[in-house]
Amino acid sequence: MYRAPSVIGIGYNAVMPAFSITGLAGQKSLAGTIPVYGAKNFVLPAMAAALILPGETVLEQVPEISDVAVMSDILRELGATLQTADGVLKISAPRLASNIGASAKSLRASVLLIGPVLARTGTVTIPHPGGDLIGERPIDLFAQGFERLGAHVSEDGDRYTFSAPHGLSGGEFFFSTVSVTATETLLIAATLAKGTVVLVNAAMEPEIVALADMLRAAGARIEGDGTPVITVRPVSLVSPPPTTIIPDRIEAATFLALGALAAESLTIQNVRPDHLAAVLDVCERMGVPLSIGTDSITVRAPERLAPIRVRTHEYPGFATDAHPPIMVCLTQADGESVLIESIFDGRLKYTEELVRMGADISLMSPHRARVVGARALQGADIVTPDIRAGLAFMLAAITANGTSRIGNAHLIDRGYARIEERLRAVGVSIEREI
Ligand code: EPU
Repeated sequence: MYRAPSVIGIGYNAVMPAFSITGLAGQKSLAGTIPVYGAKNFVLPAMAAALILPGETVLEQVPEISDVAVMSDILRELGATLQTADGVLKISAPRLASNIGASAKSLRASVLLIGPVLARTGTVTIPHPGGDLIGERPIDLFAQGFERLGAHVSEDGDRYTFSAPHGLSGGEFFFSTVSVTATETLLIAATLAKGTVVLVNAAMEPEIVALADMLRAAGARIEGDGTPVITVRPVSLVSPPPTTIIPDRIEAATFLALGALAAESLTIQNVRPDHLAAVLDVCERMGVPLSIGTDSITVRAPERLAPIRVRTHEYPGFATDAHPPIMVCLTQADGESVLIESIFDGRLKYTEELVRMGADISLMSPHRARVVGARALQGADIVTPDIRAGLAFMLAAITANGTSRIGNAHLIDRGYARIEERLRAVGVSIEREI
């Protein structure tokens, strides 16, 4: 049997920010309404796109997450002006520097800036971007894509320089691996290219369609977003109308998993059910009663969850980011389930902590977990290695007997704003410890 190398064994340290959760010991008593906030994985590319748009870009329903704060700092370092109040973020960048600083190392999504900065200034340097401990996250597709559009790419230590002093040309690029942020950064840059750009085997996530909508509202001529072939024709851009950040489908999936585990009746508000087809299919196969409205879903925990086979896949398949919360459901399903993580090779490592809480999960390979349930979970002290595993531990703690502490709460804050307030409002016993 495959044994994942430990990334979590750094021990619990009482001075780390943490969530303390007293579990429901399997009771299904959560009730009320929980709102979903704006999507982390759309607000970040929208902030990057603002750098190529003339005048002021206004983003509405911006979530108060720390990834937005870090991205804001990087944009300010590049010379942009940002103002934020009440979920509205205004960005203008009449002048732009080319050097993306060291803060980019703490945010993988900083790769999104390669496109706009290169297209605007003719050159960009960026440190190798950081991110979660979920597996290999190279930037070869960015280099190949921009080379195809006439840029020169060089590497010096851990910094990359992309240059296209005479502007980006048109051209066709085939993504050898489907990549969300590589599609987004090439899409942003392509709107300033001198010729027609065709992106083949592009990612199809709703965040890409939302980004294309935002650019189209500023005059861009983009066709095919939401399909594997996106065509971008040259045009002059104008100052765009305000852009609303779409609801976070991964938050919605997380709250669906919460409801499936522990709700008497939980209504999830501000959702796009059409973005959640694969997650709703998983819930239905597990036997979870759902009532689906136009922008809300009500979920109840069934007496027993059915075991299933799930495989993560690029959109419209089941999102890798939604796998950890669903894994907790599988630990509570009656019988043997299989979860195949096809995108990231390090993403199953967190399951060793669920095993410590009492789950029966065996890793058959870095990509395949066998889960046997239902097993009662016991509260534990855990340090999360990344944002999505953090939410899985929170759900496990809510289901468990006793109290759990989940350290590295700041990683959860990267993508879930005021999560403890929202969970407390539906009946979870949760405190933040500083
Ligand atoms: N890949 C390459 N070369 C590249 C880029 C990516 O081989 O140059 C590979 C990766 O190693 C991976 C696959 O492509 O195996 C897919 O990764 P992708 O590039 O799509 O991931 P990403 O764009 O870096 C976004 C989300 C992630 C989400 C993935 C997959 C943002 C800001 N991040 O990352 O979100 O897991 O797509 O859907 O949109 C999260 O929110 O917790 C998160 C990690």
